[in-house]
Amino acid sequence: MTVTIVGSQLGDEGKGALVDIWGGDADVVVRYQGGDNAGHTVVQDGTEYKLSLVPSGAIRGKVGVLGNGCVINPETLFDELDTLRDQGLEPDVRLARRAHVILPYHRVLDGIEEEAKSDDDLAAGTTGRGIGPTYEDKAGRRGIRVGDLLDPDVLRDRLEYAVPQKRALAEEIYGLDVENSEHADAFDIDHLFATYREYGERLKSESMTVNAGEFLSDKHTGDDELLFEGAQGTSIDIDHGIYPYVTSSNPTAGGAAVGSGVAPTVIGQGEVVGIVKAYLSRVGTGPLPTELDGTDSEEELADFIREKGGEFGTVTGRPRRIGWLDMPMLRHASRANGFTGIAVNHIDVLAGLDEINVGHAYELDGEELLTMPATTERWGDCEPVLKSFEPWDEVDWTAVAEEGYEAMPANAREYLDYISDEMSTPIYAVGIGPGRDETVVLDNPFEQ
Ligand code: GDP
Ligand code: IMO
Ligand code: MG
Repeated sequence: MTVTIVGSQLGDEGKGALVDIWGGDADVVVRYQGGDNAGHTVVQDGTEYKLSLVPSGAIRGKVGVLGNGCVINPETLFDELDTLRDQGLEPDVRLARRAHVILPYHRVLDGIEEEAKSDDDLAAGTTGRGIGPTYEDKAGRRGIRVGDLLDPDVLRDRLEYAVPQKRALAEEIYGLDVENSEHADAFDIDHLFATYREYGERLKSESMTVNAGEFLSDKHTGDDELLFEGAQGTSIDIDHGIYPYVTSSNPTAGGAAVGSGVAPTVIGQGEVVGIVKAYLSRVGTGPLPTELDGTDSEEELADFIREKGGEFGTVTGRPRRIGWLDMPMLRHASRANGFTGIAVNHIDVLAGLDEINVGHAYELDGEELLTMPATTERWGDCEPVLKSFEPWDEVDWTAVAEEGYEAMPANAREYLDYISDEMSTPIYAVGIGPGRDETVVLDNPFEQ
């Protein structure tokens, strides 16, 4: 069967932790979109692994696949693989030959386009990894794919077509003096050809490329268990998120089929688990109706949650913005993804607060809305209708992890029941700390 893990909010919900836990029952773990903009943290036996490209299941020795929907920076990939090998692991990662490759000029353009957009408040606060420009080239049919790295003639042809256009864009539209900048190599065809040929050779010599759709479908028919690991989250999905403050791919469950080559009928027969953070956090820009930033005391509370929850970007180290849980956002995620279950993380971070609120609905033009408006401007006009919950005290979370759900503070259970009811979805797990042992598991999606 298949289990698809999807972020329900704005990314960084703790997906890596759950992929790690349920990945124990999977044979293959698949990323289906995004690239090294993701930052997934897995803590095992006190060792923290931070992965941006290698699927989190690699920590458990599973086969990891980067599907055709991903954009792959080979430099990041090999750095991560080498680091994991230095840590004593033997990651087995395969790349879809149909996946697109991030080139150095994509990263340069990501930076300068963001800067240009910032004058008009349109910058998304990207991770600077070249994600958007690479997906642009994919859609513009001028991208370079993993399979192209294996064929020198094709690679050379593709570079000779794309690079002069990218150079003209940088020079003529954005005014970059490429030759006299630190980025000259990023737009030099010979340099790019030599570097990416070498990556191609390494991929070939380590037999790392596959026809992913076929590879995965064969595994599925052969009774292997497949775990699809979404990166980012539903509200930064390019179609269903808060455009334009989004990433350039589809983290939502439909992306698992398109981005892997496994049929939607197969994925739809499996489980789709939404990962929910018990409050909101956000790197990047755009409106955030339940943000805690209005008064000094709200900002103090946000600082407390940020420090306690370690809310600093895994990829960029940026402090994350903090808000109360946004229920219309979660209802939207339930509908767009068809969750069969959810995991709620960071319940421990809210312990010990004087008050806990949730944005239950929005008020917009005198009406109450239970889900998100389709434009980000209208969303920014929404005022949250808050619902208060009785707070819960700090407890011995290690003991809770050992004793199970019933040992959770009663008020925390009430909060969890509310989330589950509003999302019409059962709770499969509750995160009460970052470690593998600090999750209360109620159900295993592979056993549904
Ligand atoms: P991802 O991108 O969704 O995989 O999430 P990240 O790894 O970027 O961010 C989640 C952070 O929260 C990581 O530092 C995790 O170790 C940590 N984390 C995950 N679940 C919990 C939890 O239940 N409680 C606490 N305190 N931390 C958690
Ligand atoms: P994980 O998988 C949180 C955000 C960026 C920016 C927008 C576009 O760890 O949950 P991009 O570099 O993708 O073009 O940036 O998306 N963003 C994330 N926010 N978690 C992530 O990944 C993110 N990946 C991208 O901050 O607002
Ligand atoms: Mg992350």
